[in-house]
Amino acid sequence: MAINRQILLAETPKAKLGPEHFQLRQGEMPAPKDGEVLLRVRYISLDAANRAWMQGATYRGAVVAGTVMAGGAVAEVVDSKAQGFAPGDLVFADTGWQDYAALPAKALIKVPRVEPLTHLLSVYGIAGLTAYFGLLNIGQPRAGETVVVSAAAGSVGSIVGQIAKIKGCRAIGIAGGAAKCDWLVRELGFDAAVDYKAGPVFKALKAAAPDGIDVYFDNVGGDILEACIALMNNRGRIACCGAISAYDGPAPASGPRGVPGLIVVKRLTLKGFIVTDFFAQRDVALADLQAWVAAGKLKVQEDVIDGLENTPRALIGLLAGDNRGKRMVKVA
Ligand SMILES: NC(=O)c1ccc[n+]([C@@H]2O[C@H](COP(=O)([O-])OP(=O)(O)OC[C@H]3O[C@@H](n4cnc5c(N)ncnc54)[C@H](OP(=O)(O)O)[C@@H]3O)[C@@H](O)[C@H]2O)c1
Repeated sequence: MAINRQILLAETPKAKLGPEHFQLRQGEMPAPKDGEVLLRVRYISLDAANRAWMQGATYRGAVVAGTVMAGGAVAEVVDSKAQGFAPGDLVFADTGWQDYAALPAKALIKVPRVEPLTHLLSVYGIAGLTAYFGLLNIGQPRAGETVVVSAAAGSVGSIVGQIAKIKGCRAIGIAGGAAKCDWLVRELGFDAAVDYKAGPVFKALKAAAPDGIDVYFDNVGGDILEACIALMNNRGRIACCGAISAYDGPAPASGPRGVPGLIVVKRLTLKGFIVTDFFAQRDVALADLQAWVAAGKLKVQEDVIDGLENTPRALIGLLAGDNRGKRMVKVA
């Protein structure tokens, strides 16, 4: 019988996430029950939100210490006791960080076999769809407007800026470090990039966006959100996608600080969303993303780390900003 390696969240972190919070366990390959499918995990998606799930319930339940670490993955069906799934089929599912998972058919999303398979987690996966729906449906950018995105060199942010360019906007990224900022402008075609680690964001962003900000795609919250709100134009739109600045520590204190007045005076719209809200429109989004990739208008940046045992390190590094584009771990 094949061995199933599993990475557990051994202890809930109280401050920064470290390797000591994880534990590798070897178990037996699970057997699917009626209505279930046995999956071989191929690529695990690393997401900043993985860390937020350890802080408590969000749009999903909290990840509890002593259980297999949760996480989305592209996986292959190896055995099926459910109608509609056969060995060889590919799915996206929350398999968790392990070699094999037996899951009910209703928890699986069937995905086509594309080349390379990694695109199912990057541009054609949650990252690409989040960028697409968050920018276009929530941000509603118009040609000529200025779009700012934070965590701009990450998986979602790098796609947001490129879609903004495709839509005829001025795209400005906020990212950590000169090398990432340079890459955004030279390789991905952003009009400007602000290094939030080099000094106050407000001053640099004001210089990069002399006409103000019309759409802010917020991946980070905190000080960067505050700086952007101060630079928003009247009737600007803020797509609230995530709050990375608050993930890698204790659960954050509640309440926005000092911003409601500006929201009123500038008639801003701040709107949160979860990518699955828009899944009914997924085919249209995927067709657009595919066409942009094929035309060379959208560059796909992937950061693939080999080996299930390296998954904790891959997440810890992502939270510290050592990824460019979509990070994932190749399991098999
Ligand atoms: N709403 C939804 O449905 C949905 C779906 C998917 C993802 N998301 C959100 O999308 C965002 C991007 O997540 P991802 O998984 O794709 O990660 P990612 O952008 O690939 O990587 C995270 C990046 O965040 C940056 N970062 C870390 N700490 C930061 C801080 N304190 N301030 C500013 N930047 C910081 C790092 O880059 P630097 O080097 O630039 O610091 C790091 O590379 C997250 O907020 C996530 O929760 C939302």
